[in-house]
Amino acid sequence: MSAQIAIIGTGTIGASWATHYLARGFDVVATDPAPGAEAALRSYVDAAWDAASTLGVVPGASRDRLRFTADLREAVADAVFVQENAPERPQLKVKLLAEIDDAAPVESIIASSSSAITMSVMQAECRRPERTVIGHPFNPPHVIPLVEVVGGERTAPETIERAMVFYASIGKKPVRLRKELPGHVANRLQAALYREVVHLIDQGVLGVADADDAVSWGPGLRWGVMGPSLLWHLGGGEGGIQHFMDTLMGPMAAMWPALGNPQVTPELEHKIVEGVVAEANGRSIDDLAAERDAMLIALEGVRARYQP
Ligand SMILES: NC(=O)c1ccc[n+]([C@@H]2O[C@H](COP(=O)([O-])OP(=O)(O)OC[C@H]3O[C@@H](n4cnc5c(N)ncnc54)[C@H](O)[C@@H]3O)[C@@H](O)[C@H]2O)c1
Repeated sequence: MSAQIAIIGTGTIGASWATHYLARGFDVVATDPAPGAEAALRSYVDAAWDAASTLGVVPGASRDRLRFTADLREAVADAVFVQENAPERPQLKVKLLAEIDDAAPVESIIASSSSAITMSVMQAECRRPERTVIGHPFNPPHVIPLVEVVGGERTAPETIERAMVFYASIGKKPVRLRKELPGHVANRLQAALYREVVHLIDQGVLGVADADDAVSWGPGLRWGVMGPSLLWHLGGGEGGIQHFMDTLMGPMAAMWPALGNPQVTPELEHKIVEGVVAEANGRSIDDLAAERDAMLIALEGVRARYQP
């Protein structure tokens, strides 16, 4: 029998993870207590299959290898890897992880997609907390490679190593955090930039669409292919990063105290909502998501050609 993945919670993130694991040739057993969850999951997988396949479907992979059960214990009984994606509520996650831990094979890894709850909190009632780890994806996980991997106080270093190797083996780009912290890393980075975007809108420097353009047609394009520190190596010209440090780091650091820290009032929220609706210009969220995913998949294809 081939390796089995358990998907716990099949909402936005769980359904996307299920698609990714199926495309990578696993048997997937999913569970979710919501009425209609199985039908919603199957229709998500059908809709996302082409995108997931473009990014790397393996021989033998099939949507037919998805099984759904309402019984959590049955879902994890034969899993080699459990990916938990239930709602972001600490008490729920603590109980759920304890139950998964109780029912999953002892050698399996239990990974949580949680965006902001640390594993030290979630593993509190597990009998084998050493095999629990955060595997935080970036939405949607069947398209975006990043997974942040970080343990809790009682996670074994080998579990983190195994999770890193496992995610890399299924086409993900795992990044290991050496310490756990609220919001992990990627969401903190988004929050840092978005604070300034909101400040600029609040101050009337830019409208919503112009602020989006200023990110996505400039720095965002570059960040899609290289990270900021490596880019500064290029920004430093012939002298590279050292020249950047000698000449450009000072002026940039001098800007930090003047960056915005906006108060999010109802008026400001309204301004952003109105701006986004105007920017969407009648395109539905599904249309926009399809447009985003098609471009991301093309970009990942380009990256794979240059950085195999
Ligand atoms: N949405 C994102 O962009 C995003 C990105 C990365 C990580 N995450 C994380 O993924 C997790 C799920 O988020 P989401 O956006 O998919 O939420 P969601 O609300 O779309 O899905 C949660 C699912 O869990 C189910 N559920 C409720 N109780 C459950 C239980 N006891 N056992 C199993 N399933 C249960 C719900 O029925 C629902 O289908 C959260 O921890 C969140 O922080 C979300």
